[in-house]
Amino acid sequence: MIRSIILGCGAYLPAQILTNDALIKMRGLDSSDEWIERRTGIKQRHIAAEGEKTSDMATKAASAALADAGIDSGSIDMIVLATTTPDNVFPACAVRVQANLGMERGFAFDIQAVCSGFVYALAMADNALRAGQARRALVIGADVLSRLIDWNDRGTSVLFGDGAGAVVLEAREGHGTVADQGILSAHLHADGRHYELLQTDANAFIRMNGQEVFRHAVANLSSVVDEALAATGLKPEEIDWLVPHQANKRIIDGTGKKLGLPPERIVTTIADHANTSAASIPLALATAAHDGRIKRGQIVLLDAMGGGFTWGAAVVRW
Ligand code: UT7
Repeated sequence: MIRSIILGCGAYLPAQILTNDALIKMRGLDSSDEWIERRTGIKQRHIAAEGEKTSDMATKAASAALADAGIDSGSIDMIVLATTTPDNVFPACAVRVQANLGMERGFAFDIQAVCSGFVYALAMADNALRAGQARRALVIGADVLSRLIDWNDRGTSVLFGDGAGAVVLEAREGHGTVADQGILSAHLHADGRHYELLQTDANAFIRMNGQEVFRHAVANLSSVVDEALAATGLKPEEIDWLVPHQANKRIIDGTGKKLGLPPERIVTTIADHANTSAASIPLALATAAHDGRIKRGQIVLLDAMGGGFTWGAAVVRW
């Protein structure tokens, strides 16, 4: 049985850091650092420079992932880029990244599943590798949500940041058991009946019913995590790391509590990165893999929920 192994990962964050206090002052928001941190866990976010595009950030994260994997872009067969903020309506951002990386072969496309985009992209790349359509894949999550923010809306403007993360996958023979290295299972869901609860308006600004999204996020993440554990037969105590989408620390804590995972086994980057949409999971993965927390052979559980609604989870043996 073919398994998709994560050979390496990489991240990119724009240079400009905007703290809660600086944001409040700059935009004259009726808010406070204390409120934002207590309700969300966010202390700061990175903001892309003027003219810095999703493809620029994605290229940097992808290059870092290739270097980490120790392979050349020429051996990549497939790029899947999860983004809600592509450079253009078309062509796909992924083909710009392909060219930026100096690639002259392979196939490349974008996936739009908002904050669940990386889990969706990982699952699609895993399917292609297991079907024999590609041997090596770059899976990227990159977003500049700062460009979709109505800075006067304190209910959303404090929540988001910009960034990119990427992983390199390689198809390898496994035994079909949970002892295998690589992606062990992936589970995707969508429920378009909730389209209006988190969407962009006619001006392309994010509009969200925060409380309702919060309520659905807690329920959907809990059920998809249960589904992933049931599919793999793993018990919560066998999960070494939960690497969740970083939307709200209270949602992350809720999932951790339900699994009985102590905070030391949950990778939380929201304080520094805020919600970077499709980039948040690969950014968190790269952070914890490079600082030595996530080690080869360990079990990593990813989960995400976003506009649509879309949600999903994946279990990976690192
Ligand atoms: O990544 C995709 C998935 N997204 C999510 O999962 C986000 C889910 N939702 C959330 O994280 C939370 O709902 C928020 C962080 C957005 C809001 O937190 P909340 O605890 O649900 O607050 P709330 O919406 O119930 O608002 C409570 C109060 C309101 O004031 P009143 O009506 O009680 O007077 C808001 O107007 O807090 C007010 N408020 C703020 N106050 C200070 C809302 N935003 C702010 C703010 N600063 N930035």
